[in-house]
Parts: sequence; C-alpha cells; structure tokens
Amino acid sequence: MADKTVSLKDNSSGKTAELPLREGTLGSSVLDIRKLPKELGHFTFDPGFKATASCESAITYLDGGKGQLMYRGYPIEQLAEKCNYLEVCYLLLHGELPSSTEKEQFETNIRYHTMINEGLRKFLDGFRYDAHPMAMMTGVLGSLSAFYHDSTNIHDPDQRIITAHRLIAKMPTLAAACYKHSIGEPVLYPRNELSYASNFLWMMWGRPTEPYEPDPVAAKALDVLFILHADHEQNASTSTVRLAGSSQTNPFGAIAAGVASLWGPAHGGANEAVLRMLDEIGSVDNIDKYIDRAKDKNDPFRLMGFGHRVYKNMDPRALIIKKLADEVLEKYGDDPRMELARRLEEIALKDEYFVERRLYPNVDFYSGIIYQALGFPYEMFTVLFAIGRTVGWIAHWMEMISDPSMVIGRPRQLYVGPAERNVPDLDDR
Ligand code: ACO
Repeated sequence: MADKTVSLKDNSSGKTAELPLREGTLGSSVLDIRKLPKELGHFTFDPGFKATASCESAITYLDGGKGQLMYRGYPIEQLAEKCNYLEVCYLLLHGELPSSTEKEQFETNIRYHTMINEGLRKFLDGFRYDAHPMAMMTGVLGSLSAFYHDSTNIHDPDQRIITAHRLIAKMPTLAAACYKHSIGEPVLYPRNELSYASNFLWMMWGRPTEPYEPDPVAAKALDVLFILHADHEQNASTSTVRLAGSSQTNPFGAIAAGVASLWGPAHGGANEAVLRMLDEIGSVDNIDKYIDRAKDKNDPFRLMGFGHRVYKNMDPRALIIKKLADEVLEKYGDDPRMELARRLEEIALKDEYFVERRLYPNVDFYSGIIYQALGFPYEMFTVLFAIGRTVGWIAHWMEMISDPSMVIGRPRQLYVGPAERNVPDLDDR
C-alpha cells in the first residue's frame, strides 16, 4: 500500500477504489490510476493530456508557475552561461555533466559521425527545390533507418548510444544539406576542426569556391539557442517520439515522427509564425488592432510566441533569448521587428485578457529575430529548433527503451459513434 492514497467513489455503483498517490522529487504528485478499470470499470478522459502524466522521467523538470526549467537538476540559466551545447547533450544522455576527459571523448565521438552517407545526397536530390526544409528533414530523418541497419537492435545499449551520437552529429549536416538543396548550391562536407555550431555555420554559409570563417558571435548565439531548445520534458514532439518508439520501432523513424510533430505552428513552427506575424503587423501603430484580433474569439488569429501549455509565468528561455537577441543585434544591426516585438510584449503583458489567462512570451517569441539577424530564412527556423531538440528526443527514447517495465503506448477513447447496426443492401442505402 502506498503511503498516500486517494479514495474514489463511484456514486452509481457504490464501489470505491483506493488509488496510490505518487510523489516525484519535485512538482505535483500524481494519482496512479492504473487499477481504476479493474476496480471501478472506468477509464479516464483527458484530451490533450492536460492533467495526465504519461511516464516517469528523470531528465527535465519545469515549473510553469515559477517559470523554472532544469535539465537533470541544473537550472537552464546556469547551463546556458557555463556549458556548451555538447556538454548539455552529454548531461541529458548520461545524467551527469562530463569531466574534461569525458567531454573530449564525447566531442570526438560526435565529430566522427558528422558526415552523411553519399546516398543521402541523392535522396535529397529527389525533392523539389521549393520543398519546405522541415518536410525534407522529416523524410531524410526517416530514411536514416535504411542507411544504418547496424543500429536497429534497440535492446543493445551500445547501439542505442551510437544512434544518439549519429543523430546529434548528423542533424546540422542534414539541416544545412536541405538548405543548400533549396538554393541549388553544392552540399558542403563538415569541417571537423570546428565547434558544433561553427561547423553548422560553415555548412550553411560556406561555398567550396571561397574561404569562410564562422563568426564566433553567431556561433555562440546558436550554441546557446541549441542549449535552450535541447529538452522540454513531455511536449508534443517528445511525446510523439515516445509513443512511436514504444512500439519498438526503429529509432530514426521515431525521431522523424518527432520532427513532423515539431513542425506545427502550435509547437516548434511558432518561431517561423512569429516573424511572419511581425511582418504582417508591420508597425507599432498597428499593434492595438492585432491585440484586439487575438482577443476576438471569432477570429482565428492568435498572438504567436505567446502562451504555453505549462508556463503560466515568463518562459525562462524567453528571458535568456531576449538578452541574447540584444547582443546579436548589436553586432548585426538593429532589426525594426525587435522594437515591434518589445512593444507587443509590453502591451500584451498589461492587457487584461493576457494577464487573466497568464499568457507570457514563450521560447519562440524572440528566437526568430536572432535567426533572421544571422541570415537564416524563415523556413529554417523550425529546423534550428529541431537540431537543438534532437538530443532531448533521443534522451527520452533511451530512457524509455532502457526501462524494463516499458509497454506500448495505447490510449483509450470515449466512443461517441453509432451503436451496433446492420449493413443494409446496396439498393436500400
Ligand atoms: N493568443 C491569444 N489567445 C491565446 C493565445 C495566444 N497566443 N494562447 C492561448 N490563448 C487563449 C485561448 O484562446 C484560451 O482562451 P479561453 O480560455 O478564453 O478559451 C486560453 O488562452 C487558454 O489557451 P489554450 O489554447 O487552452 O491553452 P493551451 O495550453 O491548450 O495552448 C498554446 C498552448 C498552443 C501554446 C497556445 O498558447 C498557442 O496557440 N500559442 C500560440 C502559438 C505558440 O506560440 N506556440 C509555441 C508554444 S511553445 C513551443 O511549443 C516550443
């Protein structure tokens, strides 16, 4: 018997169930309802998982009320200040920050896997030049399962870690290759003497015909953005990876499903949508009109980059990104959209509608302004999010697969369709 329980009484049958209350290290306790169908004959109903913990996890903790985010117990602010992205990847995968020897070894492992199979370049050639890079990324990620047969034994921990290294290493190469394909330039090979972010900048902006040295300010900004996007516990794309992976499918296939989920404007696609919205608003004089539209329930317009399922306070990542945007714009020239974004935030945060609903800027609100300043086209913004988030997806997949009690994810439903009926003959329909 658990220390704390909750009694649930079914008033129609008079039966009661004593359900265990489980406590995590931090955060809300959860009611363990697994024996509910057996004891009371009922399932629970929670579309969108607004009140349901889908798993146990030791990776990331966030407190939406306080606006707090921690990876493996370390506050995001400290990680962004003191670590690089690959150290954070190691932390998410292994549970602890690397020692200097482990860091060096991990960076070597990642470097070793940065190239992509030449066959993948031919695969890319099959896409139209104007394909959205997230569409290409979804396809290309899925196709990795066909290129790396040796890592398909998901029950072998060594193969799982090689898969993690491959994914982290190849994401920037694939992302840059998708971009180069879209502009008709040659796909560049990685330069492994460069840091993770600098190498990505080289593959994005370099050309085989001329020298290119990545800008350290841009590389640092990207590295911090990758850290901020690295994980966010059971969000839509991570839950998608877990659900797909729970059938014991190939890990590259599960990650491709995560990329597809991230693309949507309600999730990672919001960073692209924010910039398009700022372009549409155009000037500070139009802000009030758009705020009114966002509040109008008959208008589908929403203030993109505002609101979050869990944060009911400032998203701590948005605070770091806003500061980072100031630093980047100092070097790359101010962007009128930054002023627009600042004013929009200011006005919305004082508006009763947003205050009442506790809608604050989220991670996507300012990130697009940095990406834009660094020269990335809008279509690449969500791809940049995907690069950073890959480690989170794979860390959750590894945590799930290595749990001996893992079962396939299989939600129930409340059926509201027709009751049983007979198929009429064709002439009678
Ligand atoms: N603009 C205007 N109104 C909003 C917004 C917004 N951006 N976000 C929420 N609301 C309103 C809703 O209309 C609703 O109002 P109501 O109670 O009067 O019906 C209330 O606030 C609660 O919103 P929900 O949609 O129930 O909140 P939910 O947790 O389901 O949605 C979401 C969260 C999808 C992020 C939502 O806030 C949104 O669409 N935001 C804009 C898109 C965006 O920025 N997405 C990125 C999220 S961060 C990420 O995924 C990395």
